[in-house]
Amino acid sequence: MSLSPSEHLNNRYGHALPPQEQPWNSVLDLLLAHRSVRDFTDRPLPPGTLETLIAAAQSAASSSNLQTWSVVVVEAPERRQRLAELAGNQAHIAKVPLFLVWVADLSRLQRQADDRGTQLQGLPYLDSLILASVDVALAAQNAVVAAESLGLASVYIGALRNDVAAVIDLLQLPAGSYPVFGLCVGYADDSRPTAVKPRLPQSVVVHRDVYSSEREQQAIEAYNDNLKHFYAGQQMPQIAWSDLVIKRMQQVETLHGREKVGGALRAHGFSLE
Ligand SMILES: Cc1cc2nc3c(=O)[nH]c(=O)nc-3n(C[C@H](O)[C@H](O)[C@H](O)COP(=O)(O)O)c2cc1C
Repeated sequence: MSLSPSEHLNNRYGHALPPQEQPWNSVLDLLLAHRSVRDFTDRPLPPGTLETLIAAAQSAASSSNLQTWSVVVVEAPERRQRLAELAGNQAHIAKVPLFLVWVADLSRLQRQADDRGTQLQGLPYLDSLILASVDVALAAQNAVVAAESLGLASVYIGALRNDVAAVIDLLQLPAGSYPVFGLCVGYADDSRPTAVKPRLPQSVVVHRDVYSSEREQQAIEAYNDNLKHFYAGQQMPQIAWSDLVIKRMQQVETLHGREKVGGALRAHGFSLE
């Protein structure tokens, strides 16, 4: 069933936007319909799907074309199971037809230098880590959009960073590379339908000329109500966004191990300077 632009916007923001003419096309239909899916069927993916998704991923822009990412297709059931446990027992990791681990990868650059018997003095800086993390995120998001365009569904798994050292070990990632997130890809189980999750109002995230948070709180209060309404419709605990932020970040314990990412990356060849 195709939706009009205003229906899409209504879903994305939880309320109607002021009517206005705006550019629209089928790509926007797809983007605005995004939702994460955590329940998948066993249906296998058509042959060639992985290659198509990777071609889409490699079509993303890449800082200086350094292409500082790799992806690990995890197939072995016991390895999948271990990753599911490391990610806080997210069972879909073990069950989904395709599970990818997206890796920020400076190690390939290092090998080029090693091959030519030289050094990369520019490599051991925090900006290189940012560069590789941005590159891999852009690539993965292209794969997500490509998957959705093929009728597939997905969910990112940032919880792989709960124990980044264990994942590095399990996947034998070389020094100078680390798992940024996983990605489950498969066909959504339509017996457990998901809905589009509303986002913050545009007025909260868009700033004109200079950053201003002056009138943000009122808009966020309205969003808190929208999100609670969304969760009610999903038969999930109704939590306001403001409370979610606090729940997720208030204490170090709620990072579930991610407070150790810095130390693990330092030990694995990254400099955070
Ligand atoms: C980098 C990243 C990591 C994420 N990690 C997880 C995860 O470990 N488990 C999970 O269930 N969802 C994860 N998500 C999905 C988010 O919870 C989801 O995108 C967010 O709630 C918005 O919902 P939507 O994608 O349905 O719009 C992650 C999303 C991103 C972008």
